[in-house]
Amino acid sequence: MSPTNLSQAMSPIISIKNINKVYDSGFQALKNVSLDIHRGEIIALLGPNGAGKTTLISIICGIANSSSGNVCVDGFDTQKDYRKTRGRIGLVPQELTSDAFSTVWNTVTFSRGLFGKSSNPIIIEKILKELSLWDKKDNMMMTLSGGMKRRVLIAKALSHEPEILFLDEPTAGVDVELRKDMWKVINNLRESGVTIILTTHYIEEAEEIADRIGVINNGELILVEDKATLIQKLGKKCITLQLQESLEHIPSNLQQYQLDLSKDGLQLSYTFSTRSESSYKSEPSSIATLIDELDNNGINFNDINTTQSSLEEIFVQLVKDSEKN
Ligand SMILES: Nc1ncnc2c1ncn2[C@@H]1O[C@H](COP(=O)(O)OP(=O)(O)OP(=O)(O)O)[C@@H](O)[C@H]1O
Ligand SMILES: [Mg+2]
Repeated sequence: MSPTNLSQAMSPIISIKNINKVYDSGFQALKNVSLDIHRGEIIALLGPNGAGKTTLISIICGIANSSSGNVCVDGFDTQKDYRKTRGRIGLVPQELTSDAFSTVWNTVTFSRGLFGKSSNPIIIEKILKELSLWDKKDNMMMTLSGGMKRRVLIAKALSHEPEILFLDEPTAGVDVELRKDMWKVINNLRESGVTIILTTHYIEEAEEIADRIGVINNGELILVEDKATLIQKLGKKCITLQLQESLEHIPSNLQQYQLDLSKDGLQLSYTFSTRSESSYKSEPSSIATLIDELDNNGINFNDINTTQSSLEEIFVQLVKDSEKN
């Protein structure tokens, strides 16, 4: 590889610098977002409703303008060189729209044409086969199930052979089995060299397929981290014991556990990480030990339940943490 090619391969495929977005309503949807996306990675953007994920994607794709800041795709500015950058990008939008009376084949072929690419039935056939849509190629869009329509949206986005694929909530409303299918499809695309950016509300989805995870809240990119690191931070479980009698304080010999006592003294909760390397082995025994120790301290309970921190809770925690820093 020549030095120029090498530096091109090493440079980020997408470089987002200080993006702000204020809608006409005066609402600021993005606040100073900067992010480099590496070639060939899968990055998942997580964030609650209204966080700014779709706005960010629309700006990267060049279909919405930022109020300030700039985005480069493969070295080209998305506003000055819109055609060059948009041609490198495939976008699977969040909203399901379909041309009800068109066949799968025609819909996908038409999309390729929109990018000014000459028709190429071999490519379209390959894409439809990869997405397990080949046997549906002559079906009208209106006869497909929701999950299949989503696949057609992916096929449309891939029809002009983009290097980058954006998937805005690819599996919203898709059942578990289909979701897993979709993950396979996305992984296969990555193996073929496509850089993938997806948004999701499902932590398992990010866990399953992403290399890196970005968290957006209130228009701010509050964290971008390798998946493994983030999972260690996120995976928390909480066991809550309903005590038979109100407890005044946590006995000092139980200080080693991370325990919280409710104000009325009737609920004792124990929070622990589910994901750190060691906890897989050690936690079940430490829970057993904790229960033994409670017994030794004469603390009895009549109910127990476990909860896992929800994505919303994790966001709230991350936001709190980011505000402290
Ligand atoms: N055209 C618009 N005009 C004014 N405000 C808008 C417009 N589009 C989006 N917004 C606002 O910007 C914020 C971010 O919206 P966006 O669609 O980017 O969120 P999101 O993270 O994709 O949410 P979701 O998870 O629900 O898809 C929201 O408060 C939304 O109401
Ligand atoms: Mg959205």
